[in-house]
Amino acid sequence: MGRGEGSLKADDIDQLEEATAAVQAWKYALRFTEMAALKCVIELGVADEIESQGGAATLSHLSTALSCSLPSLHRIMRFLVHHRVFKARRAATQEATTYLQTALSRRLLRGGEKSMAALILFEATPTMLAPWHGLSAQVLSKGTAPQPFEAAHGQDLWAYTAQNPEHSRLLDEAMACTARLTAAAIIGGCQDVFEGVRAVVDVGGGNGTFLGMVVKALPQIQGINFDLPHVLSSAPHWDGVEHVGGNMFESIPKADATFLMQVLHDWSDSECIHILKKCREAIAEDGNGGNDHGSDVKLKKSKKVVILEAVLDDDYNGERQFEEEEDSELQSWSGIRLSLDMVMMAHTNGGKERTRSEWAHLLAEAGFSSFSFKPTSVIPSVIEAFP
Ligand SMILES: C[S@@+](CC[C@H](N)C(=O)[O-])C[C@H]1O[C@@H](n2cnc3c(N)ncnc32)[C@H](O)[C@@H]1O
Repeated sequence: MGRGEGSLKADDIDQLEEATAAVQAWKYALRFTEMAALKCVIELGVADEIESQGGAATLSHLSTALSCSLPSLHRIMRFLVHHRVFKARRAATQEATTYLQTALSRRLLRGGEKSMAALILFEATPTMLAPWHGLSAQVLSKGTAPQPFEAAHGQDLWAYTAQNPEHSRLLDEAMACTARLTAAAIIGGCQDVFEGVRAVVDVGGGNGTFLGMVVKALPQIQGINFDLPHVLSSAPHWDGVEHVGGNMFESIPKADATFLMQVLHDWSDSECIHILKKCREAIAEDGNGGNDHGSDVKLKKSKKVVILEAVLDDDYNGERQFEEEEDSELQSWSGIRLSLDMVMMAHTNGGKERTRSEWAHLLAEAGFSSFSFKPTSVIPSVIEAFP
């Protein structure tokens, strides 16, 4: 059979795939350079210095202000301009090149509502990178070997942070990055979740950032930030929020609603069911899981467990078509949610991101009679579970 139009087309596609694969393979081999360069400019304070100059600064200004090597900084900035982290305005000399802040580089600022600096620094610590080397060993062991974090450090993340205050502080600050973004999204777009709620316990609330922002926006709410005692020992004060130390596997303070944000994804199914049952006990007025027939409907609606977690699509099988627009992937959370599932594999003992039906299974097993899912503008969905 001669070469028809169809087979020529197939050849073209093969060549395109080959060319793409050649570049992609290199990209994956060197992807760590992106994280390393971001870590470097956060540590140097480049975005902060550009911000202090009104959003634009020359290379010579930056190298003087940050006391660093001009040629080395130029190479780092050239790389990050290529990756569209900063913008550059070329000039007659290299020294006079002006770097401009972007929406992305503002997320590298050390403070502020949208800062992701602490999360990037935390994930880039040797402590959090070491477990990734043990992923294949864990997969090969079919569950018999310790999880990668424990294999690398001899104990799980929570025991490790209890013994290493500096790492514990980095973890709390990293979690506060996403807590700020999620709190803003919930306050801005899902405030109805607090309707009729007088008292909230944030279980595993870290340093209290989420509840602090919620209570500031809705001062009628009484907040209890519940976490391990060593976490609370360095937590800041938040008006209207009481820090209560304890262990969620044993007992959780009573309230109308318990919140669990990015906590259940750290644990196995059986541990999640245990935590959820403890949350049900905490919202029960008379110890019967909230089924108090005398209370009015509004009060009953405020008795709930609110889970803020990623929800993976049930029918998502990881396949991507080549024709898919890169831009839509750039703006979509679905790839990030799957990356977070990898993070849970490396850093927790049995934690995972879950699909909608996996969440439904856990909630039914924990004895909840009804639940609803509501997407947000950020990674987690709001899952409301009623006793
Ligand atoms: C992934 S962090 C989430 C923090 C916070 N909810 C957020 O999203 O920013 C998990 C939190 O669970 C807390 N935690 C772990 N084990 C706990 C336990 N047994 N009892 C209470 N809190 C616990 C950790 O200290 C940590 O603050």
